[in-house]
Amino acid sequence: MQLKGSSIAVTGGASGLGRATAERLAAAGAVVTLIDLPGSDGAEVADDIGGGTRFAAADVTDEAQFAAALDVASEGSGLRGVVHCAGAGRKLRILDKEGRAGSLEDFEFVVRLNLVGSYNALRLGAERIARTEEVDGERGAIVLTASVAAFEGQIGQLPYTASKAGIVGMTITAARDLASRRIRVCTIAPGIMNTPLLARLRDDVKTSLEATVPNPSRLGDPAEFGHLAGTILENGYLNGETIRLDGAIRMAPR
Ligand SMILES: NC(=O)c1ccc[n+]([C@@H]2O[C@H](COP(=O)([O-])OP(=O)(O)OC[C@H]3O[C@@H](n4cnc5c(N)ncnc54)[C@H](O)[C@@H]3O)[C@@H](O)[C@H]2O)c1
Repeated sequence: MQLKGSSIAVTGGASGLGRATAERLAAAGAVVTLIDLPGSDGAEVADDIGGGTRFAAADVTDEAQFAAALDVASEGSGLRGVVHCAGAGRKLRILDKEGRAGSLEDFEFVVRLNLVGSYNALRLGAERIARTEEVDGERGAIVLTASVAAFEGQIGQLPYTASKAGIVGMTITAARDLASRRIRVCTIAPGIMNTPLLARLRDDVKTSLEATVPNPSRLGDPAEFGHLAGTILENGYLNGETIRLDGAIRMAPR
């Protein structure tokens, strides 16, 4: 896909990896719509990015809101791509310190946000991309966001791991499912990225995290995520694959 002039929705675009992706795509001439929660900084971020970047408020777990936001992103020449970054984790042990069963509510919250949200991005995004005409043999592409926790979840990450492993599992199935529509699907599984969440950590904690990354021994730059998301959209032969973006880290149990 040629980024220049293509309409692309970036969920979670008000912060972190989504924001960096929106910056990258807008700089390449894409028409970007940030989709994020109503209470987020999405409108200000869209203004900062410029280049015609818009903001559409939506909760990605809410079908009607997400569909309406994707309709905004489809205005004009139609939607070509979705980069789905909205997501979060919640710490949860199977048993708490007193031996009681962990919270079902917390588990369901994270699975709904990350996994059901990704299914919404696939189905509601593909519904709109499928309405466009093929260009150079394809209609568009959808990029999902997993995590290295899909492969080596740490203690306390059970719902996060379950949701992210579900996204990795869906990737090839979704790519096969949407092949007849000429829509590609790939997933990025980031390691430890330097987003606002980690910026709040103490310097010594950051330094010890950096030491766990073999090469380069530092946190990932959100711009490196945006770069890969842009490359996936542009490269018409990348499909059905989850790409780790992690400096070769393999997470320890805790
Ligand atoms: N930062 C990391 O180290 C890291 C590592 C692996 C995976 N990830 C994944 O990358 C994605 C982005 O993470 P980030 O670090 O940029 O986080 P972030 O908190 O900086 O940004 C996430 C954005 O998603 C939005 N969001 C949350 N729930 C939403 C909802 N229901 N509907 C719409 N928007 C919603 C938030 O408002 C926020 O703007 C997440 O899926 C996360 O699990 C991050």
